[in-house]
Amino acid sequence: MYPTGFYRDKNGELNVQGIKINTLTAKYGTPLFVYDTGLMKERYEVFLNTVKNVKGNIHYAVKANDSVNIIKFFGDLGAGADIVSIGEFHKCVAAGIASNKIIFSGVGKDKDEIEIALKNKILQFNIESKEELYDIYEIAKKLKISANICLRINPDIAPQTHKKISTGEKETKFGIDSEEVISIYKKLHELDYMNPVGLGVHIGSQIFDFSFFHRAYSNLKDVADNLKKSGYIVPTLDLGGGIGIYYEKNKKPNFDNYKKIISELFLNSDYKLSFEPGRSLVGEAGVLITKVIRNKTNKDKNFIVVDAAMNNLIRPTLYDAYHEVEPVKKKSGLERIVDIVGPICETGDYLALNRKFIEVKCNDLLTIRTTGAYSSVMKSNYNSRIDAVEILIHNGRPYQMKEIETIHDIILKEKIIDFHQ
Ligand SMILES: Cc1ncc(COP(=O)(O)O)c(C=O)c1O
Repeated sequence: MYPTGFYRDKNGELNVQGIKINTLTAKYGTPLFVYDTGLMKERYEVFLNTVKNVKGNIHYAVKANDSVNIIKFFGDLGAGADIVSIGEFHKCVAAGIASNKIIFSGVGKDKDEIEIALKNKILQFNIESKEELYDIYEIAKKLKISANICLRINPDIAPQTHKKISTGEKETKFGIDSEEVISIYKKLHELDYMNPVGLGVHIGSQIFDFSFFHRAYSNLKDVADNLKKSGYIVPTLDLGGGIGIYYEKNKKPNFDNYKKIISELFLNSDYKLSFEPGRSLVGEAGVLITKVIRNKTNKDKNFIVVDAAMNNLIRPTLYDAYHEVEPVKKKSGLERIVDIVGPICETGDYLALNRKFIEVKCNDLLTIRTTGAYSSVMKSNYNSRIDAVEILIHNGRPYQMKEIETIHDIILKEKIIDFHQ
């Protein structure tokens, strides 16, 4: 048995499930994403155990990594899905996830998306405004199809995460004020085809201080309890995602602490709970392998220029995110302070800044860790760069997850205009 995740063998080479990373790059090139289903399964099972005693259902947050094979992997383990677009819905269907296990979140569901979701009888809409509610109502009435409606509360909580992934404060576009939620929930009961199924909350991602979850969930439960006292039925509470993972340390997310909070609040309640984890299931199960193009030294600064760039991994420049970077084969030697940068013509195209890093040379391979979530899913073709190949390792075998378009495939799709006509 091999350890789960990415580990070094006795020669200091990075491996996954008994496969040397450099055999993968020899075959598939770089930049290359590699995923380990062993760690994904381990994480899924830990999460399942975390929510077992409160009978929680897991809906994998597809936005974290929307590759059909990743969705399918969690689906095969029993997960439903949390989606934020009809594109993600179609990917879930392709992955074999039943519609009645799919939750549709997000502030901007358009009418066509709502219609498709209704016709496919998804599990529920998590709605974020009364305006959205009326759009769903009109379409449901026209189609004569009932919609299960869950209202997302904005509890006005700032969970001390990066401001671009903080979603629980009043100033953000997410959720409905607690007071308004009560009146909308009551109103729902007067509308045909609207089936109120509960309330939800998601205050952000990369949360480490779990007292914020405690506050958000207590608030949600209070609102639900009050509605119940007034005679309304509130069968489900959706607790969202957001558990923080450690990009800097080799440390597991604190599922035990999360379990304590959930148990304290919900062990003796009869709410059906749903959870929407993304990052904590898949983040650490991916790495991005890149090749050194060259070293570059300016008067005051050292750069390692690599062949991965912000079009493959935008997190460092978008979220000031830290990713551990290390040579694929352990080496010794001099260390220098460097910026590790990509070839894209943007000052913001960097993967690591001011790192103490061992001297490397042209063609050396580097590993950028913890790139399973919110990484390749945010890719672009900026600077006419083609996508990185993505490999899933399962039961000791590598699988290429999708065909990569060559630059000629991309050009062929452009409709060339004759400007002299
Ligand atoms: C509504 C909702 N649910 C779940 C998630 C997943 O969060 P995470 O990947 O931090 O677990 C997100 C991500 O922001 C979200 O917006």
